[in-house]
Amino acid sequence: MTLVVDPASYWAPYFTSFGRLDPYLQSIETTMPDPVACIIGASDGKFVVPLLRRGWQVIAIELDETFISGGAVELRTGEQRIQGLIPRLQELGLTHRCEIVRCDYMEWEPLTPVQLAVTSGLWSMPVNRAHGLAALVRRQQDYVAPDGLLFADYLLATNEGEADTGVCPEPEELEGLFPASWEVHVNEEVGTHGESHFGWEDWHEHRYGAVVAQRLKCLP
Ligand SMILES: C[S@@+](CC[C@H](N)C(=O)[O-])C[C@H]1O[C@@H](n2cnc3c(N)ncnc32)[C@H](O)[C@@H]1O
Repeated sequence: MTLVVDPASYWAPYFTSFGRLDPYLQSIETTMPDPVACIIGASDGKFVVPLLRRGWQVIAIELDETFISGGAVELRTGEQRIQGLIPRLQELGLTHRCEIVRCDYMEWEPLTPVQLAVTSGLWSMPVNRAHGLAALVRRQQDYVAPDGLLFADYLLATNEGEADTGVCPEPEELEGLFPASWEVHVNEEVGTHGESHFGWEDWHEHRYGAVVAQRLKCLP
């Protein structure tokens, strides 16, 4: 089954390497009943909906009430309606398998580590930068159970200013943040994409990277 983002999400048109998770998810699904994913920065369900439809349980972590409950955001082009994650899940009859947590992922952790933790462009968002890259990555790693997966779309620097933020690593730098207890399956630059969106409406370009890594099973 190919992994496709929810087309109803405001963020659906924006770049992601999420589909690259597909074969790694399959290997978990064949060995683990009822796997659980944490979508960190879940917004209105771009990654939540496809995982629920695929049979995963999902914990959706999000700070923004408008994208959780629905409403509108003001863009230069006018008002943009946002359906919101809760109404979207109600429409699809998927509410019962999704827990929504309105919090900062740096200040929260799942009761039990999960089989998949996902972020997309999140480490470099201004709200997260002060933590520094190592702490942001470490926190996401801490969510993941042995044998579980970490996926991230991340931004590489396109200029000195972005490099100075310290949260836009080259793949080699990111690789160094995965200790020997992790196997890094994918970690590479995946191209430059132009975009304009809520939160950053001036046309801009991002160099994207993708990482898929698996926490190794603890040896007895
Ligand atoms: C740019 S949107 C992208 C949403 C969509 N999942 C995607 O990747 O295309 C990032 C979302 O992450 C949320 N977010 C950012 N930092 C967060 C944090 N520390 N904890 C929880 N949510 C966060 C923002 O509120 C925003 O809705």
